[in-house]
Amino acid sequence: MSEVKNKIVLSGVQPSGNLHIGNYLGAIKNFVSMQDNYNCFFCIVDLHAITVKHDPKILRKNTLEVAATYIASGIDPKKSIIFNQSSIPAHAELAWIFNCVTRMGWLSRMTQFKDKAGKDKENASSGLFIYPNLMAADILIYKATHVPVGNDQKQHLELTRDIAQKFNRDFDCENFFPIPEPIIDKDISRIMSLKDGNQKMSKSDSSEYSRISLLDESDEIIKKIRKAKTADNLMPEKIEEIIKLDEVNNLLNIYSGFSGTDKQLLIEQYKGQNFSNFKSDLSDVLVEKIKPITVEIKKLMEEKEYILNVLLEGQNKANEVAQETIKQVYDIVGLLRNET
Ligand code: TYM
Repeated sequence: MSEVKNKIVLSGVQPSGNLHIGNYLGAIKNFVSMQDNYNCFFCIVDLHAITVKHDPKILRKNTLEVAATYIASGIDPKKSIIFNQSSIPAHAELAWIFNCVTRMGWLSRMTQFKDKAGKDKENASSGLFIYPNLMAADILIYKATHVPVGNDQKQHLELTRDIAQKFNRDFDCENFFPIPEPIIDKDISRIMSLKDGNQKMSKSDSSEYSRISLLDESDEIIKKIRKAKTADNLMPEKIEEIIKLDEVNNLLNIYSGFSGTDKQLLIEQYKGQNFSNFKSDLSDVLVEKIKPITVEIKKLMEEKEYILNVLLEGQNKANEVAQETIKQVYDIVGLLRNET
């Protein structure tokens, strides 16, 4: 095994429907590129998805759909371990222990809780508040060293690092949990809404025109890009000017993320022009890259037995590692476990 292969990657996506190009560029695309060089665990975090109101039938379908999206995007079940979080009880067990390690003050600072709970905090589930402890457990149960995520998860990753450090210190077990490194790409880790360059592209935005879903048909993609907000002036020449135009900068990041062309080269190509050519070329790139994924997701959703088998195989492999860690953790913490 190469040195890098000893490094462990874990990441996850919530099965909350409407997976979009932000999820793809910020996370899934990176998962695919890491699987040759790391031991990878990719989970579908269904326990996270029940921290807000949900429909059980839709949750099951969405769980299969995230698995299908992983595979359709190029995650190879022979190279990476794909599984759903709730199938491995040790995630929830370790999360409970972290509930007792994490300080209330740390959780109170989490901006995602504030965003998701909104004005009615009293009515938010307690699961939503302690959600970051479960996320830390997802990562640390596999002693993951690297975590590819979008920028919105940065604060949760920092908390995970604090939890790992505090656990190691409190229980006098230096280096038991590694301090995981977030892998966050500078330009594509925060893809913004197509309607408002100050809002993150999100599964829960009420407007379909704010995002491009991985299940959108080609004509929908073209229409959404045609309607996407740009600017009144022409494409500027200098990156400093472009950065001031949030929506234009976002479209350039999307273009560069999907085409692999350097942003600077794209600016050279379109500077001084109005945005119609740029938008038409961007639509072509998106259709070319997304269509094969969409077709494959839809095909896989007709082969549920295959997906269930992939998840079962992943569950068996992940469970072996997770059981070993939770056994060690119980021992460290002083919880009595009568082995049979
Ligand atoms: P979730 O399901 O909201 O998003 C999945 C991944 O997509 C990234 N992402 C984005 N990236 C760029 N631009 C965007 N507009 C955008 N929107 C979402 C997210 O950063 C994420 O990487 N809490 C996590 C799931 C999770 C997890 C974990 C991740 C649970 N346990 C352990 C890593 C490790 C979440 O809600 O992601």
